[in-house]
Amino acid sequence: MFAGIACAMPLTLPACAQVPANANPGLRDLARARGLTFGTAVRSNLLTTDAAYAALIAREADLLVPEWEGKWEALQPERDRFDFEPLRTVLRFASSNNQRVRGHALLWHEAMPAWLAPALREGPAQAQQILETHITTVLRETRESIRDWDVVNEVIADPPGSDNPSPTEGDLRPTPWLRALGPNYIERALRLARQADPTLRLTFNDYGVESDTPWAAAKRTRLLRVVRGLLERGCPLDAVGIQGHLQMREPFRAEPFVAFLRTLREMGLATLITELDVREPDILAPSLEARDAAVAEYAIAFLTAAVEGGARTILTWGLSDRDSWLVQEPGVARRDGQFHRGHPYDSELRAKAFRARLAQFFTR
Ligand code: XIL
Repeated sequence: MFAGIACAMPLTLPACAQVPANANPGLRDLARARGLTFGTAVRSNLLTTDAAYAALIAREADLLVPEWEGKWEALQPERDRFDFEPLRTVLRFASSNNQRVRGHALLWHEAMPAWLAPALREGPAQAQQILETHITTVLRETRESIRDWDVVNEVIADPPGSDNPSPTEGDLRPTPWLRALGPNYIERALRLARQADPTLRLTFNDYGVESDTPWAAAKRTRLLRVVRGLLERGCPLDAVGIQGHLQMREPFRAEPFVAFLRTLREMGLATLITELDVREPDILAPSLEARDAAVAEYAIAFLTAAVEGGARTILTWGLSDRDSWLVQEPGVARRDGQFHRGHPYDSELRAKAFRARLAQFFTR
């Protein structure tokens, strides 16, 4: 597909997949020309073993985020034993393709290594020490290469009425971190990050705030309340990442979402779309073509509102349906034998309507 790639691509290498100067512009170039940044989540193992995947990432993305390699499970598989190799693979790839990398995530209630939850129960002093060691060690390692990290991920509790088995009335999700350190654990993480790397952009990343439903409205309210509280206490924070795992069964309307982004902006925060992908509705359109057009339509309506609200950075959570959690993750995948077609490229890495509409969106 990318016949013009300049170098032979050995399967074991952090790619030498540079896009030749005369290639058709990638999404990265088109977005940049519009003053936007386009990027995607990547998997280190595919960057080094799958030449077509590597070429696609090299061509399309200006900004990479490791899908797994920056999570606790990857970085600190055993207590006090850090492993930066998978993350370094992403960093090397990015550097050879003139791409930036953002970090994900310094604190999350998932992808916790088995040792972590029991260790957090040793007491607040130990929990604080564990958090501090992780954040300072990781940020020391990535100081030169990563200038934006999701410091906290998904800390807002799901409002009642969700699929989540334990919705709560409080604003914060009940997690081992909340239990170990109390409600100011978010502030502690942000302060530790600021201290460890004073010019790092500190991002607060979350999901479920996009659609025009009472549930999403409640989640927006919760997020705004928590973020406002942090800022009022003088806590360092620079940006809010909106994951953008969209669900077509939910209505989307620009106005409430734009207003939400503007409110964040008025608080002095940047906003970015960090994990865009689209889950199709329960009843699918009759043809692949119609399905792909509908996905593209929905995603572009969302992005138009995001940019109107001030977002300047857009990352998809992977580029293709082939390598997506939407297809691979049991809790997220469809149960009707169909596969979500929620990415710009299909399962054979062919561009779909979503890719075409993105290109159009960036050039209009
Ligand atoms: C997901 C990955 O895509 C999966 O491969 C993994 O099994 C679980 O995590 N929100 C996030 C991401 O912040 O880290 C999640 O990534 C998707 C939801």
